[in-house]
This record gives sequence, C-alpha cells and structure tokens, in this order.
Amino acid sequence: MHRYKIMREIIEKIEYLKKKKNAIVLAHTYQLPEIQDIADFVGDSLDLSKKAANTESSIIVFCGVHFMAETASILNPQKKVLLPDLNAGCPMADMVNVDDLIKFKNKFKNPVVVSYVNTTALVKAESYICCTSANAVNVVKSIAQEGDIIFVPDRNLGDYVQKKSGVELNIWNGFCPTHNNFILPEVILKAKTEHPAAKVLVHPECRYKTIELADEVMSTGMMCRYVKKSDNKEFIIGTETGILHKLKKDNPDKQFYPAIKESVCPNMKKITIEKVLDVLTNETNVVSISEEIRQKAIFPIKKMLDVWS
Ligand code: 13P
Ligand code: SF4
Repeated sequence: MHRYKIMREIIEKIEYLKKKKNAIVLAHTYQLPEIQDIADFVGDSLDLSKKAANTESSIIVFCGVHFMAETASILNPQKKVLLPDLNAGCPMADMVNVDDLIKFKNKFKNPVVVSYVNTTALVKAESYICCTSANAVNVVKSIAQEGDIIFVPDRNLGDYVQKKSGVELNIWNGFCPTHNNFILPEVILKAKTEHPAAKVLVHPECRYKTIELADEVMSTGMMCRYVKKSDNKEFIIGTETGILHKLKKDNPDKQFYPAIKESVCPNMKKITIEKVLDVLTNETNVVSISEEIRQKAIFPIKKMLDVWS
C-alpha cells in the first residue's frame, strides 16, 4: 500500500482511540512532523509539564523522551502515561546518577540542588527545586541565598544561568550531545553570512561561545512565541531541527534556517506514529515510578511549577 494511505489509516485509528479512551497526545517540539500533527498539544518541557499537570484525560501518550514521561507520571500517578518507545532516553539526563549526586552533595555544608528537568526521577528526588530552560535563571535567582547551589546536569545551561543571574553555581559536567557538539560558534557565523537579515535564536544547552553570537537565548517554547510576535521575517534556529516544523506551520510568511541541519536528537526521533498507535491500542509502555520516589520527586517539580510556571 502507498505510504501516504498507510499513514492516513494509522492517523484515523489514533484519532478514534484518543476519543474512545479519553487519551491526550503530548509532543515535544523536537518530534517528527507527523507526530506533531497528531498531537493535541506541542510544546517545550515546561509547557508539557504544565499540560500534564492539568489534563483531565485518563491516558497520556507522551511523545518525547523518558524523563518527560516520568515527570508526567510523577504529576499524575492515577493516570496511565505511555511512552511509545521506552528506549527514547536522554544522554544528558544519564550523565548524572543519584549515587554520584549524593557524594557531591556531601562535599558542601548546605547543598541546595537545582535539577534541570532533564534528569531521572531518582535525581529529582534528591533535589530542592527543578528548572527548565524557560525558567532556569529565575529559579536560580529565587534561591540565591539558600545555600551552596549545585546545578545538574547541564554545564552549558549552568554556565549561562550563572552569567545571567550573577549567582555562583557548582555546575555538573553534563551536556546535550545535539546542542553541544553540533551547534558550534563557526556554524552560527556561517549561517549569519548566508542569511545576514536573519535573527539568531539559540537554546541555552549550546556552548557559551555559541550563545554569545545569538540575538536571543530561549527555550523552544519561548522561540515559538517570540517568532510569532516578531516583525522580523527570517530566523536562524540554533536548536534541534524538529522545531522548524512547528515554526513553519505557525508562521507561513516567515523563513527559518537551521543553524546546522545535523542538530538532530536521535532519541526524540525514535517515536513514530506506528508506535503511538501500538501503545494506544494495547496500553503498553506504561511509565511509572515507585510511590516512595514519586513522593520525593514531586516536591521539586511542584516547587518549580508553583513559583515559575
Ligand atoms: P526545552 O523543551 O525546555 O526547550 O528543552 C529542550 C530539550 O532539550 C528537551 O530535551
Ligand atoms: Fe536530551 Fe539533548 Fe535530546 Fe534534549 S535534545 S532529549 S537534552 S539529548
């Protein structure tokens, strides 16, 4: 059968099952175009956490990576959170484990851990407050006086937040391979030469040398809102390329150029519509957390949502 016809049938089945089972499909901005198109909501990590916290649906199909589905499950223990591919992880989240974090905390008199939402539930359970790329500067400023601040796991976001907030941080040495290894300063310089009228928007998971060359530094959700309001017609986008689908769809009169087309997150791309249909049909790939860990991990997430949502 023609691929287009197969896709149409899968999409129709997904739509039918969503209604029948009272399910919602949430998708991160880095998801494949066809996933974004079947989703009920597409957003950044913060928007998705808020949506997961407030949904009335009984099933959440989370099209993103494992820590995002975990966060949704922590906020909704009574709901089924399904991750279409359980191998969709985040290498940056895996760069900090709970035992090493506890050892590191023990080096400080009054450790206060800020964990980027890109962490496992176990790491969140050892944290004081969470943050996302959309609120990290404000989160850190809000706890500046509370002790020795440990920022995990992203060294680039930590470096940016430290410079922007003026608050001294003890920064973990993790990074996002997609942003750190591909969106390099020379890539931005080249894109600027090719598109001199374009505004440069970059994600704070990029190296500081890259950030210095940008017009704006933003989470993916902030980029989407910024572009809509901007009078500019051209944009160089320094983040995972999946976001270009949403940007083009929402702003057909504007031009978008990826800073580099190789800035792709292979884990985000593991989610396919076939897998979405499969988990929705069979209610498999449930992401759940032990109640003991959930009780501890919900605290820093709620603290972030209460203060900086
Ligand atoms: P935001 O969704 O906060 O922009 O973060 C990007 C990211 O890398 C998620 O994995
Ligand atoms: Fe993790 Fe980077 Fe992929 Fe985001 S883009 S999920 S931080 S590896």
